[in-house]
Amino acid sequence: MVNFDIIRCGRAVLHVTDLEKSKEFYDALGFIETEADSENIFLRGLEEHNHHSLWLKKKAEPALEVISYKVRSEEDLDALAGFFESQQRQVIWMEAGSQNALGRSLRVMDPNGLPVEYYARMDTAERMLQRYDVYKGAKVQRIDHFNCMVPDVEGAHNYYIDELGFACSEYTAGEEERIWAAWLHRKPSVHDVAFMNGPGPRLHHVGFWLKDPMSLIDGCDYLAAKGFAPGIERGPGRHGLSNAFFLYLRDPDGHRIELYNGDYLTSDPDFKPIRWDLNDPMRQTFWGHEAPDSWFEEATEVLDVHSGRKRGLEEPLLKKRKPNFVT
Ligand SMILES: [Fe+2]
Repeated sequence: MVNFDIIRCGRAVLHVTDLEKSKEFYDALGFIETEADSENIFLRGLEEHNHHSLWLKKKAEPALEVISYKVRSEEDLDALAGFFESQQRQVIWMEAGSQNALGRSLRVMDPNGLPVEYYARMDTAERMLQRYDVYKGAKVQRIDHFNCMVPDVEGAHNYYIDELGFACSEYTAGEEERIWAAWLHRKPSVHDVAFMNGPGPRLHHVGFWLKDPMSLIDGCDYLAAKGFAPGIERGPGRHGLSNAFFLYLRDPDGHRIELYNGDYLTSDPDFKPIRWDLNDPMRQTFWGHEAPDSWFEEATEVLDVHSGRKRGLEEPLLKKRKPNFVT
């Protein structure tokens, strides 16, 4: 049994090269800008009562600095630190106030080589859910999940379930029934994090929740009208896996953002993970459309929390990089 309580995915910290362009793009999605200066933009969705769920930092190169999970209490942070240290996994404590609006946090490299952070407290901000007068674009409501491309999905699946207390909602079986992709959750939705087979560690996308499918369409219209149509990479469509309505976008630095609506409740302990075959044409897109190659090949490189440098990529354990479509 784990002795700490991870609540949910909380925020991503992305490095971007041109804050003005980023500002225009994320503004078109309907994010609320909580705070900004010449080096940073802090964004939140309309229903979020915390300071931000996306922190864009101006840097020379695009990268993922860290993905962050919220835990229940300060004691949970101490318990997590003890757990990681028991595994000879070095943690970095970031003191309260050293990051804008955030209490103390700990950063660690997970077994996939992903930079991960845990925090208990973040400053609050006005919840804008009923400020319909400021709704615009895709009307992003809240952060929903991270999706990461890693070389050993089955190892990631086992570690997050056995050691960190996540549960699996759905998974994809690949060669010899090995797990090719897995959707894992702490909050009672389909996922807080998904892992998929590929050269990694890399961040594939950050998913944000919308109130309805029409908001995705409104987002496409708004983006196209603002000149961002080339950034619409895949969709809109219906996922087989997760049942969500989706749209994938590339921001001005190539970071992938998913707009996501319509998954389901996974709170019950007797919920049985749903298996999909990698080659099932309805797995990715219920309507049978193929995803473009860029969706399988391109992703955001990640920084090591200790050195601050980019991690090298390892080849995946499973050879299949994408499904074979037999239809
Ligand atoms: Fe996703």
